Amino acid sequence: MHFASLTIDPAFRVGEVDPRLYGSFVEHLGRCVYEGIYEPGHPTADPRGFRGDVASLTRELGVPIVRYPGGNFVSGYHWEDGIGPVEERPTRIDLAWRTIEPNHVGVDEFQRWAGSVGAETMMAVNLGTRGIDAARSIVEYCNHPSGTYWSDLRRANGAADPYDIKVWCLGNEMDGPWQIGHKTAVEYGRLAAETGKAMRLVDPSIELVACGSSNRAMPTFGSWEATVLGSCYDVVDYVSLHAYYQERDGDRGSFLASAVDMDAFIEAVIATADHVRAVGRHRKRINLSFDEWNVWYQTRFAGEKNLSIERTPRLIEDVYSVTDAVVVGNLLISLLRHADRVRIGCQAQLVNVIGLIMTEPGGPAWRQSSYHPFALTSRHGRGTVLRLEPTGPSYDTAVHGRVPVLDAVAVLTEEDGVVLFAVNRDQSQELTLDVDARSLPALTAADHVALFDEDPDAVNDATDPDRVVPRPLDPPKLDGGRLQAVLPPLSWNMIRLT
Ligand code: AHR
Repeated sequence: MHFASLTIDPAFRVGEVDPRLYGSFVEHLGRCVYEGIYEPGHPTADPRGFRGDVASLTRELGVPIVRYPGGNFVSGYHWEDGIGPVEERPTRIDLAWRTIEPNHVGVDEFQRWAGSVGAETMMAVNLGTRGIDAARSIVEYCNHPSGTYWSDLRRANGAADPYDIKVWCLGNEMDGPWQIGHKTAVEYGRLAAETGKAMRLVDPSIELVACGSSNRAMPTFGSWEATVLGSCYDVVDYVSLHAYYQERDGDRGSFLASAVDMDAFIEAVIATADHVRAVGRHRKRINLSFDEWNVWYQTRFAGEKNLSIERTPRLIEDVYSVTDAVVVGNLLISLLRHADRVRIGCQAQLVNVIGLIMTEPGGPAWRQSSYHPFALTSRHGRGTVLRLEPTGPSYDTAVHGRVPVLDAVAVLTEEDGVVLFAVNRDQSQELTLDVDARSLPALTAADHVALFDEDPDAVNDATDPDRVVPRPLDPPKLDGGRLQAVLPPLSWNMIRLT
């Protein structure tokens, strides 16, 4: 049995959680759109062909923003292919994933779907094969009220009111050699600045995200951000971060500490953005858009996109275990800990493709294990993040050095009082956690749910969709503002103090 302790004090505020921290991502990739959110003929499909079961699980998940349409896909995409009468839309080869793209879903369909699940769209523009002209046209199509070529075309296509899409990504992973239209930092920084300028001339109210590094291991990481922001600092509002984690070579201890890497990544990008701010004597701060993050077993799927070109291939359909779900919950703790600067987060991706939700064509939709910590954090983790300084045991990892067994963050909320999200990374021992919450007035009750299992490799699937679900535990002991809870081995926990 391990022991750890922490103090919750409402005076130690990190910042307000921007609800957009709980965003997700829908890319035209594999079965995310087709057979994912959209499947005409499915028993639950609405008249427009969108699956009702997936929409309802998405609403329950609580994603206020969804990034679209890619990802690598956007770097070869002609957005105009996806508007107008469906039967007249071209069928294309998507070169990013070497897949047939029928263009049955485009910006209009996606925007309606996003509205129906309570989300706003975060739109990416193609800065791979295209540039300023296509980008300013799609802003005009989506956001200009009427009386111009593109806005009137939107109206003719059935949307009288502008979409007012607020957040726009200036391309995707432009530092990556795999990206169609891959650029150097100098080339991309200039293009981002000029494209963003033109997009803002169409709609000055939009917010712009510049591409940061595709991951922290990129050889250009750090210098990429500095050079890009050096060119476009005044034009953009956010710089993006992407990170995917997986267990490698059976090293579960390192994998469970993936949030240590996410913390370091975030803090390095903040330092770089603030360095550019200082050098350029800029007043505004650039915030962070962590617009792709998840567990993704990339080694398992290596080479998949080189299969023969087909429609709706089953690409990168990871099935997530209890351990993966604990890591996902821990990554959310890392994002919350930096809520003052990480304003947007997009879990990648929503359905089927490294998804929180899985579907079978003509069949059921179900929640993966990782759906649960995400849904609970999104529902209860809204308010003011409080800084915690836990003390407790630590362990050695091959990848991250010595790391704490406990990771935790607290959120002061209007609805619940204080919510503590905590992970016990120890794979075999319980962790007894003492919480000093004496500075919280009128603390009368606490409840505790946790995601853990006797089998840390257990998964949900179509035949057993609720094999892995959060379980209520005995309410923590409360005594004079001090609380004691026991966190099971290898567990993600949510403790509400009301
Ligand atoms: O989310 C899957 C892919 O991962 C995205 O298309 C790309 O941006 C990233 O490399």
